Amino acid sequence: MIEILQADITTLPVDAIVNAANHSLLGGGGVDGAIHRAAGPELKQYNQTHGGCPTGEARLSPGFKLPAKYVISTVGPVWYGGERGEAALLDSAYRNSFILALQHDIKSIAFPAISTGVYAYPKEMAARTALAVMKEYESKFERIIAACHTREDVDIYESVLAKLS
Ligand code: APR
Repeated sequence: MIEILQADITTLPVDAIVNAANHSLLGGGGVDGAIHRAAGPELKQYNQTHGGCPTGEARLSPGFKLPAKYVISTVGPVWYGGERGEAALLDSAYRNSFILALQHDIKSIAFPAISTGVYAYPKEMAARTALAVMKEYESKFERIIAACHTREDVDIYESVLAKLS
């Protein structure tokens, strides 16, 4: 079941929330900053053991002070205009997060709109990629949540999902 919610992802009591991180996995701005603030300093300490994460891949950590049991940190692509394989890398970021979740018996998972903030990926194009992968994995999870930060993002996700269905 795919749910589109306007929510601060750090508040969601799900098995895993996904973080739109950078290659260091050591925190940053946007949702990355919010998740690290809410999880506490142990998240950064734990992530140091990962030794970084390439674009499109995902790494798991405990949720620490978050209501979520786990954080799955993934690195989305920076948008350079669409000619540098951005769509495939964004697909991989969602797909590898799902694959990692399945390996840890995670049944409920929430995603931010990866790459659509600092990394400047066009919101509607990103939503199309996100929802296509979510629909592919829908039957394997009890809850898949698109945690949108703004009402505008909710509207974009809802209109894209309606076209996909
Ligand atoms: N809950 C849900 N969504 C959020 C939250 C939040 N608390 N805070 C921000 N967002 C949304 C943004 O509105 C945007 O739609 O997350 C989406 C992703 O935006 P960014 O956080 O800027 O992530 P991204 O575009 O993937 O850029 C990643 O930014 O913060 C740095 O360290 C991070 O270098 C990395 C880069």
